[in-house]
Amino acid sequence: MRSKLVAGNWKMNGNLASNQALLTSLVPLLAPISVTRCVVCVPYPYLAQTEQILRGKGISWGAQDVCQYEHGAYTGGVSAGMVADFGCRYVIVGHSERRALFGDTDEVVAQKFVAVLKAGLTPIFCVGETLAERESGVMEQVIARQLDAVMAKSGAVALEGAVVAYEPVWAIGTGKTASPEQAQAVHALIRGRVAEQDMRVADGLPIIYGGSVKASNAAQLFAMPDIDGGLIGGASLVAEEFAGICKAAG
Ligand code: 13P
Repeated sequence: MRSKLVAGNWKMNGNLASNQALLTSLVPLLAPISVTRCVVCVPYPYLAQTEQILRGKGISWGAQDVCQYEHGAYTGGVSAGMVADFGCRYVIVGHSERRALFGDTDEVVAQKFVAVLKAGLTPIFCVGETLAERESGVMEQVIARQLDAVMAKSGAVALEGAVVAYEPVWAIGTGKTASPEQAQAVHALIRGRVAEQDMRVADGLPIIYGGSVKASNAAQLFAMPDIDGGLIGGASLVAEEFAGICKAAG
């Protein structure tokens, strides 16, 4: 039985004052939720603040990206080891915004995935198709290509220490959620692709859904057999909304 995981991706939002308010509100709201793993992925400068507020409170925190390299002359880069210093347990890699806006290729995403594992952290590895890809019938190939790039680099067994997030690009920040059936179909496809290489890893792999998840639509999504939780953007910035989603996960 896979346990559920709900992760908030704050993206480039927040400041010291608003984070303080959001995090301190989340602590009592999420305290009764003991089965689901709840995570917030915050911008780098606020990792120390997040650690200070959440340590020992049963909520995990993480980063939204890392550099693929460990250290050296990479101006502006932040390594997985550096975010681990701030108590992070999770790092998002391959988010579609990184792929589309910052040029993260499948190969770079695979390198980042490996770097996160090497630092002892859990990658939340994002895959997903654009609307044009879905409409032109290549969705399956796109997802397979994204998954295969990581499995080729690290071996399917490395997914044992990871979470996969299916985020259809057309559902991100658009208010247009994939239907539970649409999402389930892709989650099953992802699990099947991993199972071709390692059945045991595929069975235990948490696959979470992201794209316009709200407290009001989370329960139907999380009821599907291959949907093991959510990766939440906009709704993770509102304490009651995020807590509602975590509650819906059980
Ligand atoms: P929204 O929940 O705002 O659609 O964002 C989803 C997302 O990109 C999470 O990583």
